[in-house]
Amino acid sequence: MAEAYIVDAVRTPVGKRGGGLSTAHSADLGAHVIKAVMDRSGADPATVEDVIFGCCDTIGSQAGDIARTCWLAAGLPEHVPGVTIDRQCGSSQQSVHFAAQAVMSGTSDLVVAGGVQNMSQIPISSAMTVAEPLGFTDPFSGSQGWVERYGTQEVSQFRGAEMIADRWDLSREDMERFALTSHERALRAMDEGRFDGEIAPYGDVLADEGPRRGTTLEKMSSLPLLEGSKKLTAAVASQISDGASCVLIASEKAVKEQGLSPRARVHHISVRADDPIFMLTAPIPATRFALEKAGMTLDQIDVVEINEAFASVVLAWEKELRPDMEKVNPNGGAIALGHPIGATGTRLMTTLLAELERVGGRYGLQTMCEGGGQANVTILERL
Ligand SMILES: CC(C)(COP(=O)(O)OP(=O)(O)OC[C@H]1O[C@@H](n2cnc3c(N)ncnc32)[C@H](O)[C@@H]1OP(=O)(O)O)[C@@H](O)C(=O)NCCC(=O)NCCS
Repeated sequence: MAEAYIVDAVRTPVGKRGGGLSTAHSADLGAHVIKAVMDRSGADPATVEDVIFGCCDTIGSQAGDIARTCWLAAGLPEHVPGVTIDRQCGSSQQSVHFAAQAVMSGTSDLVVAGGVQNMSQIPISSAMTVAEPLGFTDPFSGSQGWVERYGTQEVSQFRGAEMIADRWDLSREDMERFALTSHERALRAMDEGRFDGEIAPYGDVLADEGPRRGTTLEKMSSLPLLEGSKKLTAAVASQISDGASCVLIASEKAVKEQGLSPRARVHHISVRADDPIFMLTAPIPATRFALEKAGMTLDQIDVVEINEAFASVVLAWEKELRPDMEKVNPNGGAIALGHPIGATGTRLMTTLLAELERVGGRYGLQTMCEGGGQANVTILERL
């Protein structure tokens, strides 16, 4: 199988809901990271064969194949196509997998993979709520097959996160301690300039807006519970955010012909699924499957990025996989930094790659929980 190389990776800062990126059009956010990755890599944009972008809630500014619109809004050659994909929160990680598969199969030599989401302008689950006048309250309950299999119970990430906390015996305080660590690590990374190389500032937005200075366990414990929840508060959930991120993936041929300097190779890609009602547990079987398929153990992995959709997701994964938590989300995660859903996959990968370089590590593993009970796993080898 041919190698797929990651030539470069870049992201916008992650903006808070209503913050510095909230008025930016999603196509402009995506265009910004595409231009940055092309400029930084030195690759010829005319030789890009496809642009694969993850995005959820593809309505309004995100409708009509946002991948294509981002590329065109970047002023790049019209003959390069684009395709938008939706694997929920893992959409841009999946875009990397599709791009890598295209290169590994020998059908493409240069592909841009990324994602974008403006959750300030297009709130999460908007694609469902706008369809209510058409008679659809959710994507499941009208399906005979779905109802026969799963009934009419609530399907939501909040319910899933709470069910996970109950099954893995995680208290509110366990989750708050984890959330505090996420903020502390993200702030340390910002203060030490660890994100500087991976961020392409957007206008006057220079840095991530989510991490909270001065948050404490005491403050978190005083927050009200989310509606209908016995354990979850805003502090233990990922933040609603805006942002874009992308990577450039190349074949050996493109690397040689264009004199590119790849930063990593894609060592392993896979995706697995689990119970769609628990929804957020799949990183557990997906990590086991990926390690087994790659013939590796977790000890061989130098840095892990697992998306902090909710604290319970990572803590349940920790209980099952027993990793060294110093190597897991060493620069914080979505609880502190935010989770612009379509963009988070390549945001995590951008950060993973920079951290591997910072610590001189060899292998990095990324996994994320996704709607439908799914999870992608990517293992990168730093070059
Ligand atoms: C959990 C959620 C509903 C909370 O929404 P929200 O109530 O609007 O959240 P906010 O961030 O405004 O926080 C609410 C309050 O808690 C406070 N707060 C939140 N985290 C805090 C922390 N770590 N420390 C101190 N205070 C905190 C905020 O300051 C805010 O108080 P304020 O209104 O006085 O400013 C929202 O973030 C969410 O939907 N997250 C999940 C997104 C998602 O599902 N993504 C997909 C993953 S599967």
